[in-house]
Formats: sequence, structure tokens, C-alpha cells
Amino acid sequence: MENKNIATRSNSGKKEDQDWNDTSMKDEKSSKGSEVALDKSKENSLQKVFEKLLKDIYTAELELVDALPKVIEAAHEEDLEDVLRDHLEDTKRQVKRLEKVFGQLDIETSDAEISEPMSGLIAEANKIIKEFKIGPVRDSALIIVAQKIEHYEIATYGSLRTLADVLYLEAIGDVMDRSLEEEKQADEMLSELAEEINDMACRYNERDYKSQKSSSKS
Ligand SMILES: [Fe+2]
Repeated sequence: MENKNIATRSNSGKKEDQDWNDTSMKDEKSSKGSEVALDKSKENSLQKVFEKLLKDIYTAELELVDALPKVIEAAHEEDLEDVLRDHLEDTKRQVKRLEKVFGQLDIETSDAEISEPMSGLIAEANKIIKEFKIGPVRDSALIIVAQKIEHYEIATYGSLRTLADVLYLEAIGDVMDRSLEEEKQADEMLSELAEEINDMACRYNERDYKSQKSSSKS
């Protein structure tokens, strides 16, 4: 879901609150030839929100690069493994993209804090792996948590895109858009896969239930 609300609210803000509209924040050619500049000195500003969000998605992507191999190994269906493996490659590219953006905006990555939402979602995936044995039921549960991750990332990249526009960082906004599209595609593929795998999980449950019932009679 693309978040347009922040920009809409900001554009209706009072004149004295519109620090972001300062000409000093418009795109500039730096000595490296990039066309971006972000004034990070302003406290309580949209620039700070943008920087915070950027750092959050960066650590979130890094955490995901570490966590996905275990989830791929825990999946049963080959199609699910393939979607997750492709997304792992997307995620690695997204990390590199973000590092380039940090360089362009002259932001240090070293003080980026752990992404609490992503840590929580990864912990949820790990619990599923412990709780359910390998098979279509676990696959269904893993798809649900994978889609929660995608939705979190879609909201974050969508907000970054919107903020980049109001902060006159259009080139950075275009970079955010590329990652946003990849997240949306992954989400759509997971939705398609869920239809097939949920169906398999239902049949598996019925079989399991019937075999338990017949063994309890004998
Ligand atoms: Fe991502």
C-alpha cells in the first residue's frame, strides 16, 4: 500500500512549519556529481523523519538477508522456496541501493539501530518453524509472515518515496520506487502461491484428522 498521507498532510501545514520547503533543501549537484542534498541539521523536521525511516529499512533489509536462508530451508514447496530465494536476491540488491543512497546523502549507516518491527516479524517466522513440522501447513504460516514483512516494507518504501518528493529528493524517490515495486511483486507472488498452498494445507489437515480418527478407533 503506497502511503500518500504524509505528503498530503505536510502540504497543508502552516507556513512557519514548512522548513522542508526551504530552497537550501532542493536538489543540488554535489562534488560527486549526484543531484541530492538533505539538510540533517534540523531537529523535529521531515528530514529527520526521512533519515530515521531510511536507517530503519536499511537495518530491516540487513536482518532479512540474514534470516531468509533459514526460512527457505524450512519451506516445503519448491515454488515457495523459489519465490523466497528470488526475494533474497532482491533484498541484497536493495541493501546495495540503500548504501548508495546513504553515500549520496552523506548519512552514516553505523548508528542505524536495529529495526524492531522486522526483528519481531523474523522472531514470528522462527516460532512458526519451531511450532509446525515441515509441510504445507507450515508453508501457509510462513507465507502469512512473509506477506506481513512485505507489507511493512511496502509501507516504508512508499513513505520514503512520498517524503523524497516533498523534500525535493526526486532522484532518491525514484530509487525507493524500484524497491517498492520489487516488494509489491513479491507480495503478489506470495498471494498467488497462498491460494494453491492453503488448499494443499486444508487437504493435508483432513487426511491427518481422518488418520488420527481411524487409529483412535482401532
Ligand atoms: Fe526488501
